[in-house]
Amino acid sequence: MRILAIETSCDETGAAVLEKDEKGLIKVLSNVTATSSSLHAKTGGIIPENAAREQVKFMIPVIAAALLKSQEKENNLTMKQFNNLFLKGNSLWIDPELFKKANTILKNTIDAIAVTQGPGLIGSLLVGVETAKTLSFALNKPIVPVHHLLAHLYANFIELNAKPYPLSPFPFIGLIVSGGHTDILCFRSHSNYKWLGGTRDDAAGEAFDKIGRILGFAYPSGPEIEKRAKTVGETSIKFHSPLINSEDFDFSFSGLKTEAMRFIKDRHLTKRLINEICRAVEDSITAVLIKKTIRSAKLYKISTILLGGGVSANEALRKELELRIMNQELGIKVFAPSKSFATDNAAMIGAYALLNYKPAPWNKVSAQPELYFD
Ligand code: KG4
Ligand code: ZN
Repeated sequence: MRILAIETSCDETGAAVLEKDEKGLIKVLSNVTATSSSLHAKTGGIIPENAAREQVKFMIPVIAAALLKSQEKENNLTMKQFNNLFLKGNSLWIDPELFKKANTILKNTIDAIAVTQGPGLIGSLLVGVETAKTLSFALNKPIVPVHHLLAHLYANFIELNAKPYPLSPFPFIGLIVSGGHTDILCFRSHSNYKWLGGTRDDAAGEAFDKIGRILGFAYPSGPEIEKRAKTVGETSIKFHSPLINSEDFDFSFSGLKTEAMRFIKDRHLTKRLINEICRAVEDSITAVLIKKTIRSAKLYKISTILLGGGVSANEALRKELELRIMNQELGIKVFAPSKSFATDNAAMIGAYALLNYKPAPWNKVSAQPELYFD
């Protein structure tokens, strides 16, 4: 089965083509993401209407590119032609011949369409959902609505479920750390999972972004904070890790922003001091994520952890989690998606849909900004 997946929950516009073979193994044939982050860097954060307007412009070209790329060999699509799909001068452009080919690929090779239904920004979600519904209706192809946060964990299956040695990670603890969410879940099977806890206020990624903004970094600031934190071996600056000792699996990151703001106020910010603040912020966020993730694995006697979401691209989080597990001789395996599948992308939506194939009538599929866990 071959699926076209669409992702537009926040500021990215993503489309991907994935295939599942008779053995249940999945393969990403293409994964295209257009970002409007440079626009949001100018405004210091996402303005939802701007994000949705950009997605309206990008949606069809991105789908066309994903379809063409899924057949790259057959089409002899050079990288130059591929880039030419998008831009002519400053405006979006689609080569008419390639566009026709994309249309034929869609009609002839795609069996179903998967789309993010939520949670996310309403305007952004509507762009993807309405595009998917239109394609589904016009071409009479099934549509599979997908939960964006669960898909972040399923980004791991792209590598776990690939040839030659597919691995089943069940049961596992899933830690979702993105720009809008921080959640811990316990998975027994594809359809049997339990939400253990989550953030009471800001998400982990949001804390990185808000503190980065105070320090004058462009949105999103997580990668910049990580880069600077890496340059610092140790720092005497220590910020709190709220709720680190609480027995539940809840998080709270809004206090960290206030603490960092107070620390920064009236100080002369040298490059070294900024880098040390970045290190302290990263330490504070990763410490509580690691502690609670390990504690949940111990409590539920589970020996596999899957990370997902943009913050899971943070190497300090991955390495420190593995180090703690090793030091405590817990024998827990940790998986995290490769960086291109950690932040928002359509391949993870396709992976979830292929492994949880539940088509819905197109007129019952709707954008759900507040979609939460069952
Ligand atoms: O999953 P994602 O792409 O979008 C949402 O669904 O929210 O996550 C984006 C978040 C942003 O807050 C960004 O700052 C953060 O992920 N992020 C990172 C890193 N890369 C992205 N945070 C820390 N370290 C990173 N390397
Ligand atoms: Zn996301």
